[in-house]
Amino acid sequence: MPLVTSKELLQWAREERFAVGAFNANNMEMVQAIVEAAEEERAPVILQVSQGAIRYAGLAFAAGLVKIAAAQATIPVVLHLDHGYDFEQNVLCLQAGFTSLMFDGSKLPFEENVAATRRIVDIAHPCGLPVEGELGKVLQSTDKVTPEEVAAAMTDPAQARLFVQLTGVDSLAVAVGSVHAMRQREARLDIDRVAALREAAGVPLVLHGSSGVDEGDIVAAIENGICKVNVATYLNQAFVDGLRAGLAKYPDEVDPRKSLSMARDAVKVRVKEKLRLFKSSGRIAPGGGFVTAVGRSAELGAAE
Ligand code: G3H
Ligand code: ZN
Repeated sequence: MPLVTSKELLQWAREERFAVGAFNANNMEMVQAIVEAAEEERAPVILQVSQGAIRYAGLAFAAGLVKIAAAQATIPVVLHLDHGYDFEQNVLCLQAGFTSLMFDGSKLPFEENVAATRRIVDIAHPCGLPVEGELGKVLQSTDKVTPEEVAAAMTDPAQARLFVQLTGVDSLAVAVGSVHAMRQREARLDIDRVAALREAAGVPLVLHGSSGVDEGDIVAAIENGICKVNVATYLNQAFVDGLRAGLAKYPDEVDPRKSLSMARDAVKVRVKEKLRLFKSSGRIAPGGGFVTAVGRSAELGAAE
């Protein structure tokens, strides 16, 4: 089916307290793995592309791969810009057919973040595209952050309320204890803060840096207002591990497809695992419709 926007999916997730998986895709194999996993799980899915991935693949390839995968799928697929840091990148993605945008102004002072985010909302909404904003800072593990720095960077609920009112964003990325690019699950989330942010912001909340978060905390955060969970490092690890295993298994092989298909399979396993954790599996009926809480008591295919 054609790409869909993230707006309706995230609102639905907020109402029913599950989360849509948002997976970073850097190459064809990852795009295929993510969409195949979502298809088999009957889960809606967001494929997101960072500015780094756009530099690597080129915007046309990055967007084109996701559009082709979505066209073959029978579950809703969103093409989202992850951590757009400037106005120009958002405009280029809008032109390239993305169906969801993000402006990350979290490094800016509050007023500048509001103004820059508002500018993007003002061009996106007339085109029917939703925008994710970010308030508070989700730090980088490569910066060797301390627990005190993580705590100090968390999103303030009162500021979040004001930010949403002033910008008109459709969803909000919040800092609640996670750190980007962690390789071990050692981060713990402030669940009370998530619940307070849900009430204050009034829009779907987004968890960044999920790869390093304790699984029980992810489940609790979803029950308390997280509606989109971003996953990058956990998939990158699977891809590289699968690739290494393939190269070790076929040391004399010159056809890269042998090891690349092992990398793809490894990513797919992890995407399925996450979709189940996020309570996203089984949400899409065979005809592509939403399986709602009411429909859940009826037959899966009947709830369109
Ligand atoms: O925007 C993408 C993410 O927040 C992913 O973070 O690499 O820690 O999973 P991660
Ligand atoms: Zn992020």
